[in-house]
Amino acid sequence: MTDAVLADTASPVTIADLRGDQWWRRAVIYQVYVRSFADGNGDGIGDLAGVRARLPYLAELGVDAIWFTPWYESPLADGGYDVADYRAIDPAFGTLAEAERLISEARNLGIRTIVDVVPNHVSDQHPWFQAALASAPGSPERARFWFRPGKGPNGDGIPNGWVSNFSGPAWTRTQNPDGTPGEWYLHLFSAQQPDLNWSHPEVRAEHEAVLRFWFDRGVAGVRIDSAALLVKDPALPEVPAEPGPGEHPNTDRDELHDIYRSWRAVADSYPDSRILVGEIWLPDIERFAKYLRPDELHTAFNFDFLVQPWDAASLRGSIDTTLAAHAPVNAPATWVLSNHDVTRPVTRYGQEDSAFAFATKRSGTPTDLDMGRRRARAAALLCAALPGSLYIYQGEELGLDEVQDLPAHQLQDPMYLRSGGADPGRDGCRVPLPWAGTRPPFGFSPAGATDEPWLRQPRRWADLTVEAEERDPHSMLSLYRTMLTIRRSEPDFRDGRVRWLPSASDVLAFARGEKFICVTNLSGAPIELPAECSLLLASAEPTAGFLPPDATAWLRSERSQAHDRPSWHLTEGGE
Ligand code: NOJ
Ligand code: CA
Repeated sequence: MTDAVLADTASPVTIADLRGDQWWRRAVIYQVYVRSFADGNGDGIGDLAGVRARLPYLAELGVDAIWFTPWYESPLADGGYDVADYRAIDPAFGTLAEAERLISEARNLGIRTIVDVVPNHVSDQHPWFQAALASAPGSPERARFWFRPGKGPNGDGIPNGWVSNFSGPAWTRTQNPDGTPGEWYLHLFSAQQPDLNWSHPEVRAEHEAVLRFWFDRGVAGVRIDSAALLVKDPALPEVPAEPGPGEHPNTDRDELHDIYRSWRAVADSYPDSRILVGEIWLPDIERFAKYLRPDELHTAFNFDFLVQPWDAASLRGSIDTTLAAHAPVNAPATWVLSNHDVTRPVTRYGQEDSAFAFATKRSGTPTDLDMGRRRARAAALLCAALPGSLYIYQGEELGLDEVQDLPAHQLQDPMYLRSGGADPGRDGCRVPLPWAGTRPPFGFSPAGATDEPWLRQPRRWADLTVEAEERDPHSMLSLYRTMLTIRRSEPDFRDGRVRWLPSASDVLAFARGEKFICVTNLSGAPIELPAECSLLLASAEPTAGFLPPDATAWLRSERSQAHDRPSWHLTEGGE
């Protein structure tokens, strides 16, 4: 393996930019799933009061921004991704005035706020959809959605064969006011989330107004839910077996770019930087990068890395492809190990086949949590050393595992419900955080609360509370805190380049800037670390200069690595 300059995502960005306007290029963004972060009023549901009380924790962790999953008024049929009113906070979470206070309190601690917007669909309780249901076929109220007559003489055949992302048909039939069966409407997710028609000018205007509403309240950015799904081919044709680029009738349609150009114009109309972050799951990385052209989104989640198995070639391939795709559009990459939709990394990496795909998510997979924890620690250091921004999903910094034995009556995820239980769903990564103490609710709710957390916390989390981990210098939390401290101050991280260094095939080693080196050992044996390097941080303690398997080390070389060929070669067993 030769060393090579793989990609240069470095842009003409100054340090002043990074402190101010270009902060998002290498920010650390912490995802708060409000319902499960901290409960301020003791009803067992996380809320804004809980977040406000815990802001100092996030400041100490060292994050630059918080992304809040939807906190708007919602029946919570899909955890808030079914929005009934974009301009109101769900009463279970708090009030708009409280959200405004939270935004400014966070800002005073140096933490920016990113809110989630969900443009593909609304809740079936949204006034627009309620008005559509109350109106006749062909009415202007229905034109904002995708209403269609059913096929066949009685209209009981579904309009097309599209499948919901939560399994089952993407269509539900309505009832006419007289009780007879009526038209069908499209929902790419649950039936409680009707899809909006993005060719309708009011749909576009309303979302731009929503962006302004939140930007005017001081939010620094928006995360755009299901960002590649908004536009549909109006003919609603069947999905071809192998759609070519831009040919899928409901995903990644070329017309989307025009929408995001208008959104960018809204963001850029503010004097300081307001950013757009797309949730874009696309296998075609070049199509993905098109959304990041300079007049479109600022960044988008890179999910390719998190779906890779724990394997050096796969991870290196993903890093190379990601950096190479971002370079031409001069957008920073993002690194994501987890979020509220995927199996917690400690569990994922604890499974022999750690490649992740929703389609294969099954409960009961044999899991070695110790191995998973070692690998999750190593993966965290690997991601945090790469150029771009870094996302941390709440509880990842505590090393929480996926809870796979929640009582069936508590499960709420439509992925579980609509699949008839075939898919275990995503509740297991959304269990309320353990903060302190030795028993549930582990400080999630205040002392004396009578209601239990909305999802049951496992007793084994007693060792994984913030309180317990703060005391333990070897905990995941201590690792994340140190990692983020170094990441903030490391001068070599200002250079956007990654240079691979020669190494055995199951070892990943790369240099950043002049002297920083990151080494991940994915082999089964310890590897010798180069003597001329000092150790900045390791996910597992090296022994006698050897880095154990499933570990990452951050090193500082005494010699410049930027231009010279490194003088050492990492080998297994330290030959
Ligand atoms: C992606 C969100 O992250 C997920 O939680 C949600 O279910 C879907 N989009 C639908 O809004
Ligand atoms: Ca509460």
